[in-house]
Amino acid sequence: MPDLSVEYMGLRLRNPLIVASSGLTRNAALVRHCEQAGVGAVVMKSIFEEDIRRRDNTFDDSLCSHPEASEYFRADLGLVYGAQQYCDEIRQAKKETSIPVIASVNCTEPRWWVDFAAQLAAAGADAIELNLSVPSVELELDMEQAENNFSRIVAAVVSKVDIPVAVKMSGQLTAPQHTAKKLVDAGAHALVTFNRQSGLDISLNSRKAFSARGDQGLTTSHQMYFPLRWVTILHELMPEVQLSASGGVHSGEALVKYILAGATTVQVCSLFYREGLKQAAVLLDSLSEYMERVGADNIDQVRGSVERDITIGTREQQRLEYLQLSKDHYLEVDSTDGGGLTYEKHEKREKRH
Ligand SMILES: Cc1cc2nc3c(=O)[nH]c(=O)nc-3n(C[C@H](O)[C@H](O)[C@H](O)COP(=O)(O)O)c2cc1C
Repeated sequence: MPDLSVEYMGLRLRNPLIVASSGLTRNAALVRHCEQAGVGAVVMKSIFEEDIRRRDNTFDDSLCSHPEASEYFRADLGLVYGAQQYCDEIRQAKKETSIPVIASVNCTEPRWWVDFAAQLAAAGADAIELNLSVPSVELELDMEQAENNFSRIVAAVVSKVDIPVAVKMSGQLTAPQHTAKKLVDAGAHALVTFNRQSGLDISLNSRKAFSARGDQGLTTSHQMYFPLRWVTILHELMPEVQLSASGGVHSGEALVKYILAGATTVQVCSLFYREGLKQAAVLLDSLSEYMERVGADNIDQVRGSVERDITIGTREQQRLEYLQLSKDHYLEVDSTDGGGLTYEKHEKREKRH
């Protein structure tokens, strides 16, 4: 039986499988279920500044003379109160389980990133994941400004807590490799690639636009290819940086591919929502079977071992990949069905691999 254990941000995990931040990890009881399912660690549901602000209605207005001041106090008190509930769940999870519990923070106001992170660390979280993936649509905001802002948040949090800090990145970046480097330079101990991408859809009846994230908010297996590409590139460019892959793992093969690409850990969410946490054992069995098949005793022997003809990330590789892609998806008019389009080259590509 191969050894599946890994070291992620200095934490020992019995295997690289992590339940990603979501409703599946929102309290201690659910963390216990995750542990029983056999995963290596959990990332708890993010603490969202806005959620806490919305939830809070506990503040006594009589303490404040000015209505405006009352508003501010209520908001801030609510944030502290909300964080306390989250901290209680961390404490409980740490008491009842022995897998690493990674807390997750998603804020807007700079001071709350640091404040929440410090509170969660004090409550016993083993690490913090900062979800820095809120995309910005300001026309005037250039990427350098955005990256500097991310770096400031990371540096501030890292200087305030003495547990490891991972950053969950958005895939919607001009140059993910550059942002990744800046985050690491700012002190991030690991990078999570990527957060769930949300697109937009439009209702033809109401003409209202709404956030569309695929099938009921859950991903499908096709969503793996974009993060897989970037895990491969980032590992090649910065092999010393720990990567946690997130997105589109719906089979054991996908888990193995992320590890071959260079991921230290792999986060899974949608599959567990759809088919239950029992799928954790299925994924881990696939990983063990693969390792046995290739004669690997431990994860390090397979991690990052993807073979490429040309170094990934180089101009040549990018150009070659682009040319292959355009060629393979060349559309031909099919004369037998009155002009329908078919993916002529698809079959040949399948055979090559
Ligand atoms: C219902 C749901 C809730 C989620 N909530 C959070 C969250 O609170 N914080 C976060 O960082 N990511 C959140 N995510 C994103 C997941 O952690 C994960 O990165 C993403 O779903 C991709 O993994 P998957 O393909 O295995 O679902 C959520 C995803 C889903 C489906």
